Amino acid sequence: MYDADHARPAQSGRRAILHDMEPTADDFLGAALKGLSSTPKALPHRFLYDAEGSALFDRITRLPEYYPTRTEIGILRDNAADIAARVGPNVQLVELGSGSSVKVRILLDALDNPYAYVPIDISRDHLAGAAQAIQDAYPDLRVEAIAADFAQPFDLPPRGAGKRVGFYPGSSIGNFTPAEAESFLKLWAGRLGAGAMMLIGVDLQKDASILEAAYDDAQKVTAAFSLNLLARANRELGADFDLKAFRHEARYRADEGRVEISLVALKDTEVTLDGRRFTFEEGERLHVEDSWKYTLPGFRALADRAGWEAETVWIDPDGLFSVHMMRVRP
Ligand SMILES: C[S@@+](CC[C@H](N)C(=O)[O-])C[C@H]1O[C@@H](n2cnc3c(N)ncnc32)[C@H](O)[C@@H]1O
Repeated sequence: MYDADHARPAQSGRRAILHDMEPTADDFLGAALKGLSSTPKALPHRFLYDAEGSALFDRITRLPEYYPTRTEIGILRDNAADIAARVGPNVQLVELGSGSSVKVRILLDALDNPYAYVPIDISRDHLAGAAQAIQDAYPDLRVEAIAADFAQPFDLPPRGAGKRVGFYPGSSIGNFTPAEAESFLKLWAGRLGAGAMMLIGVDLQKDASILEAAYDDAQKVTAAFSLNLLARANRELGADFDLKAFRHEARYRADEGRVEISLVALKDTEVTLDGRRFTFEEGERLHVEDSWKYTLPGFRALADRAGWEAETVWIDPDGLFSVHMMRVRP
């Protein structure tokens, strides 16, 4: 479906295409009711990103404690020419969870005559603005955005003469459990198809103090990001969460390699959603998100099981973050 209404007016005259398959409020309601009925209670992390959540995430990327964004940008800048040489000319670059489409500019500046850029994101209005900004900056590039849950079935636009290259930065793969990550990479090996490559950012296991500060910063922007999930349920679903009754918490479970992000009830509290009442006892956790961290061999083995063979990997000098290049195994 082509939905040009969401794209900002273009300075170049060319408008980014937007295919709109964003999940509806019904999806959010069903997932929220299911999550609040489960033990422990949880809300699905994909709903963290509405326009407000995407804007808060952009602020997170600029926080001093949030090392992943600046570290991954450094790796991409340092290796852009090598990346471009390895993928070759005329590629269709498909970005998974593209957010503000900042990092992709490093690739677009280095690639040899890219054929098209296909940003995919669940946060539709934010995606539309970001896609149009790329279209304005690269007027000759075909920009074809897809507002969708990238784990759901949909077709990609035709790829032209070059390779399809997936770009999945931000260590968003860490928001899936390792088993889910394996299924997800398998799904995308099939969707990108034979001969495709993938460039994926993967955060590495490290000291708990660095990780917990990155997900619970002094300015409390990450806390506002988590609490926006409750605010969004109030706005869109008519829930009545008392936001002051919860505090944000990030704990690194080193034995599992996972930062667990929760909202913890500060007192006994309750919420009504769709006519159903859910109670929280003081200290009870509402699970919001996990961020799994990997070792280099651990991630490589997972990707291998999902049908991807390693091409190369780059890491920063401090060993904080990795960017893997992989290809679909023939
Ligand atoms: C951690 S941010 C990363 C943004 C950007 N790629 C970066 O590296 O800075 C995750 C992005 O993925 C998007 N996202 C999260 N879950 C998604 C889903 N199920 N389908 C599509 N996009 C999703 C969010 O809206 C957000 O823009």
